[in-house]
Amino acid sequence: MSNSNNRIFLSPPHMGGSESQYVGEAFQSNFIAPLGPMVNKFEAEFSKISGLPFCLAVSSGTAAMHLALRCLSNRSSTEVDNRKPVIIASSLTFIGSISPACFEGIDLVFLDSSYGSWNMDTDLLLAELEWRKSRDVLPIAVIPTDLYGEPSNLPKIREICLQFQIPLISDSAEAVGAHYFDGKGNMRHAGFDSDAAVFSFNGNKIITTSGGGMLGSHDEVFINHARKLATQAREEFPWYEHAEIGYNYRMSNIVAAIGVGQLEVLEDRVNRRRAINAMYHDILSPIEGVSFLEEPGYAIGNQWLTVVFIDPATFGVDNNFVREVLETNNIESRPVWKPMHMQPVFRSMVARYQAERVRKYDVCEEYFSKGLCLPSGSALSDSDVERICSIIISCRNRKV
Ligand SMILES: Cc1ncc(COP(=O)(O)O)c(C=O)c1O
Repeated sequence: MSNSNNRIFLSPPHMGGSESQYVGEAFQSNFIAPLGPMVNKFEAEFSKISGLPFCLAVSSGTAAMHLALRCLSNRSSTEVDNRKPVIIASSLTFIGSISPACFEGIDLVFLDSSYGSWNMDTDLLLAELEWRKSRDVLPIAVIPTDLYGEPSNLPKIREICLQFQIPLISDSAEAVGAHYFDGKGNMRHAGFDSDAAVFSFNGNKIITTSGGGMLGSHDEVFINHARKLATQAREEFPWYEHAEIGYNYRMSNIVAAIGVGQLEVLEDRVNRRRAINAMYHDILSPIEGVSFLEEPGYAIGNQWLTVVFIDPATFGVDNNFVREVLETNNIESRPVWKPMHMQPVFRSMVARYQAERVRKYDVCEEYFSKGLCLPSGSALSDSDVERICSIIISCRNRKV
């Protein structure tokens, strides 16, 4: 990785060693078809690490979110008849967090991040729900995202959601292995204090199955329904009987075998990503014009991606300049997620909801304009991090 001829990727897969053995076992048992013992083992092991007693392994985080919405929105009918149902979601997120709402014909109202955190501003959430309650247009769910592996303030969000009786779906896709203190003396895995939590094992995540997701919950009935929907909504008959429409969303036994191996090294992966984050912080934060978000006191994130902010006024060049210089050195970096309220696909929807109530997005817009995600893979060496930092520092005050 430290040879400058080799590309340094943002967050490449990092196998622990036992994955191929588990895949071999899956081959030997001929459970090549979807489902099988590795899927059951992966679900059981994930349940242990997350503390969520019921877990369902599926083909992607997006699929897990879709199932969560299908099952929870069946239960709620809080909108008045002539309006489309609405979900309140973080604006600063990845599209897979909220595209399933669009599959279901649900509208989205986006909220800003709180200053100093990546995640949904809980004051804005409370104000939004109070305003909606006064008009009898409560949302059918709230979806906060644990961005870049920083857990949201779920105990607070849960308290607010309970007050208004709104289902809470935690998008913890990026936060496998991240934890928070719940204010009652417990350390919880990301997503724990929710009605449903969504996780991703996409190729760039802290652990990967090459592609896959998990839906976790405290509610067995909910997970059983999601499991049925994920399996073409097949009813329990010897023949194929269908009383509702489902999907082909289950995880394959081969893919789950990779996941079983990856879970064994999760703690190491979190520790290494946190160490990489600390190194970036130590080397770069003394440089004028460079800053980082500090971890909130209640969280021990997984530091899935380290993000640096470049202030062009004091650093002399902007984040895009730095990204291009890193690229010429064969180093991948990436802008912060572009907020959802700025996405062309949502332009008319955002305008409609802004017309009835103006929402501000200063925080996530600033993060997007100044932020740059740095290579953060757990196989990155210390000397790689040092080299990346020196290239960033060399950009300072360069002529554009
Ligand atoms: C915040 C967030 N939500 C949802 C997803 C969707 O997960 P997947 O790619 O497994 O569908 C991802 C990641 O890819 C993500 O980063």
